[in-house]
Amino acid sequence: MQALDGARAHIRNVPLENIAGLAKDRFGDTSVIPLWFGEGDVPAPAFIGEAMNRAIAAGHVFYTHQNGIPELRETLATYLSGLGALPVGPERITVTASGMNAIMLALTLICEAGDNIVAIDPVWPNTGGMASLLGAEVRSVRMDAGPDGWSLDPDKLAASLDGRTRAVFFASPGNPTGAMVPLEVQAAVLKLCRERGVWLIADEVYNRLAFGLASAPTILDIAEPEDRLIVINSFSKSWAMTGWRLGWMVHPPSIGPTLAMLTQYTTSGVTTFLQHAGVAAIREGEPFVGSMRAYCEAGMGIVCDALERSPRVRMGPRPKAGMYAFFEVDGRPDARQACLDILSATGVGLAPGIFFGPGSESFLRACVCRAPDVLRQAMQRLAPALA
Ligand SMILES: Cc1ncc(COP(=O)(O)O)c(C=O)c1O
Repeated sequence: MQALDGARAHIRNVPLENIAGLAKDRFGDTSVIPLWFGEGDVPAPAFIGEAMNRAIAAGHVFYTHQNGIPELRETLATYLSGLGALPVGPERITVTASGMNAIMLALTLICEAGDNIVAIDPVWPNTGGMASLLGAEVRSVRMDAGPDGWSLDPDKLAASLDGRTRAVFFASPGNPTGAMVPLEVQAAVLKLCRERGVWLIADEVYNRLAFGLASAPTILDIAEPEDRLIVINSFSKSWAMTGWRLGWMVHPPSIGPTLAMLTQYTTSGVTTFLQHAGVAAIREGEPFVGSMRAYCEAGMGIVCDALERSPRVRMGPRPKAGMYAFFEVDGRPDARQACLDILSATGVGLAPGIFFGPGSESFLRACVCRAPDVLRQAMQRLAPALA
């Protein structure tokens, strides 16, 4: 008998394969151009690390507040109140050990075995993975791909909810589509969740990477503090801090103590000195965030120019936000196999659509957050595979 047989059935049943697994044999191989993960090649600016080192030197190295240090919660509250139309108080903010950790806390709060969550897809797979670990079913409602891009039909969403639905999850801007859900559609989703007593988990991890905008439309502009709404955010993308593992959630004030308890029994708090780095990132990071947005927009242009030149590539209008191009190649319905073939033939790492929900099996995702010359080289290498 194997030791793994002793693990919970829900855990044994979750597939082990994911994007990181697909990439693992070539991880760190410098001949590969890695467009498979959701991260760029730009490190976080030096002032953030300097703030962290100063915090260590100042002795911020002990256990800390479960919802996050007051300074970071207040800094985030000021930041969010300035970005959106409505004020957000620090009592609505909990600092987390990444966006993923925020999703874990949210779903642990909400879901039990036998429940279901409804994820708007194409969608980043980790939310569904976490729900599955809790024994919840993951239902998908697919956005429609039309001439104006991906759009969400709230009626289709309403039809998919039932008595065991505990949460609706959507990301705007989306990963992998870059689609931004207009505020009136977000309002319809919020209304539906209110009517059905269902939680809404809105992932705004890419909200600062909306091209030409200070921020993508945010549901915080139309929600009440005590709505069953959790907004997920992260330092990973806009501040280029993927490896630092720092994020936050905006939640009803009344669940703050419960989130503190969940934090106590999981991470027992986010690395204290890292939170001081977060304060510096928010207070001084606006020029850097602007440069990340421009970098992604330029990368999107280079990748989409090349993709649009290939007669076999099918892609809707260019994404106006985010870090990804999401496309199909005629004659390659199995994108997982296509990714493996492309990797061995060209050394370009892409992510297959199979991970982004049913209906995306023939899609490929390329991260565009790379230096222009690297992206041009990647697209040159890809050209024969797409011709
Ligand atoms: C939509 C979305 N949400 C959340 C995350 C989590 O980010 P992190 O855990 O690095 O903060 C990602 C990462 O790719 C993402 O794409």
